[in-house]
Amino acid sequence: SKRHPIIAGNWKMNKIVREAQDYAIKLLGRIGNVTDVDVVVCAPFTALSTLKDELEESIIHIGAQDLFWVASGAFTGEISAEMLVDIACTYVIIGHSERREILKETDEDIAKKIKAALKAGLTPILCVGENLAQREEGRALAIVRGQVQKDLADLPSEDLKRVVIAYEPLWAIGTGKTSSSQDAQDMCEAIRTTLAGIAGTVADEVNILYGGSVKADNIAELMVQPDIDGALVGGASLDADGFAQLIENAL
Ligand code: G3H
Repeated sequence: SKRHPIIAGNWKMNKIVREAQDYAIKLLGRIGNVTDVDVVVCAPFTALSTLKDELEESIIHIGAQDLFWVASGAFTGEISAEMLVDIACTYVIIGHSERREILKETDEDIAKKIKAALKAGLTPILCVGENLAQREEGRALAIVRGQVQKDLADLPSEDLKRVVIAYEPLWAIGTGKTSSSQDAQDMCEAIRTTLAGIAGTVADEVNILYGGSVKADNIAELMVQPDIDGALVGGASLDADGFAQLIENAL
């Protein structure tokens, strides 16, 4: 395969600085030599400085969970891509379903955030996924395809291949209900087909992750699927030893 797998942890709104530091030291001790998969830890903004101190020189990549699309200026409370680069981030989650639902982020906002991340040299992890009602109505594919098309509109193909897409069905997030690995594969394949429609063969170079109740005991069956190139892990990334075990099981 042309793609190097990625396992990204998303702490969401968890961990104070001391906890982040302990975690980084522990995770590094467990998987500091793993190179068969790119490991990313996506932390709250307040923990990024300590992750820089502990992980900047390591193989573990640091990610944020959001950004704002302007470089600097009068945008109280916001954080720019340039600020994330400055603090050693190389990844950033964009358009997580919790931000779409709770913070009312639109596809237009998300498209601007993707462009800002790419321009600053960050790797965006674009989250897409349908909710339970949409799946039951048979609209899952149309919803996800629409998100991919709108969020990645007018990107040149050399930019598109730097985007990571995380397929996260909302009904599987934090619920303990994982999508079956076949259903996850089918949607990830459909996402790749959508990308091919936008940009041709570049689609084969895009990393597509699955997210939603991924754990140490179901990661292996997801990783063997041909269009699943890794995982975005919420709850099961919060404990350093548990996340290390999940990463080892993914190899
Ligand atoms: O970003 C991560 C996802 O929302 C999945 O969360 O692993 O706790 O289900 P979860």
